[in-house]
Amino acid sequence: MSNDVRYLLDRNSVVAITGASSGIGAALALELSQRGVALALCARRTDRLAEVAEHARARGARVLELQADVSDHEQAVAFIERTLETFGGRLDVLVLNAGRGHCAAVEDTPTEQLYSMFAVNVFPLWYLVRPVLPVMKSQRRGHIVAISSIVGKVAYPYNAAYVAAKHAVVGFIAALRTELVETGVEATVICPSGVETEWAHVTEGNPIGELFAEGIALSRTIASERGIPRAPLQRMKSAEDVARQIARVIEAPPGHDVYTHDGSYDLVALAMKSRRDYERAMLPLLLGMRQAYEARR
Ligand SMILES: NC(=O)c1ccc[n+]([C@@H]2O[C@H](COP(=O)([O-])OP(=O)(O)OC[C@H]3O[C@@H](n4cnc5c(N)ncnc54)[C@H](OP(=O)(O)O)[C@@H]3O)[C@@H](O)[C@H]2O)c1
Repeated sequence: MSNDVRYLLDRNSVVAITGASSGIGAALALELSQRGVALALCARRTDRLAEVAEHARARGARVLELQADVSDHEQAVAFIERTLETFGGRLDVLVLNAGRGHCAAVEDTPTEQLYSMFAVNVFPLWYLVRPVLPVMKSQRRGHIVAISSIVGKVAYPYNAAYVAAKHAVVGFIAALRTELVETGVEATVICPSGVETEWAHVTEGNPIGELFAEGIALSRTIASERGIPRAPLQRMKSAEDVARQIARVIEAPPGHDVYTHDGSYDLVALAMKSRRDYERAMLPLLLGMRQAYEARR
């Protein structure tokens, strides 16, 4: 990790997090609240958001919580405006975390699902970052952190719209960085693998977590029947572990894309070198998931 830039968080720091009502966003809010920062949190479920806000306040943070659907341009911009009004025009860190997956083969993906994947995972990056950039540039300090996924770099089957959307998140941050050189503003994309949250259970269409679980179970039989190695899969992590990693990244922007799970980088490097080699390594899982998907049709 480079030590060029440090953003140590203190009582004056203002951090905005989207999708803070559960999972990684909620865990990150609680992790950062221990540093006494000011937090602006948004999500759609106000009851869950209020619980997170209450816990964060109990740990010493000043908290603004706001109901906002970030796929709605006006609501996304209103979240940033309220944050700036509440905390004296200052914003140090913006965490673009809100996201949602889906479960469908390419030929089964309804057009509305395709739109909604981009509406929640991609378009809010523009809605939220545009009003934040002038503020961070005038501060000559700021860090934009976007939560993509390992599937922002490689792919698993039966969620191509989500995979494409998370690739777009990686591309957005890469492009943004090229516009931010020597401005004092940093941008980092985080690529987690499996994290124990609600994400895999609330995917549009069917829960993709179930398809993965069935596919992994089938992949073991397929691997042993064919006498080939099992697919290299990363161990699931807790939201709290990933939140601690993101907090470290916020304080010391590394200047490279961040993989939270051991083995992710090697998998990405394999796919970049040869898609065919990646597919060969993943074959038992790809076939297992196909069996599981076809059985559910
Ligand atoms: N869990 C994993 O295995 C995994 C792996 C790689 C990447 N990720 C990414 O990590 C991020 C966080 O997901 P998670 O795992 O923590 O799952 P999660 O527990 O389902 O959290 C998703 C958060 O996003 C919010 N959200 C969803 N749609 C929203 C919208 N339209 N407007 C505002 N907020 C919205 C949800 O709040 P409301 O429903 O209350 O709005 C919730 O707070 C997502 O971008 C996800 O794609 C997750």
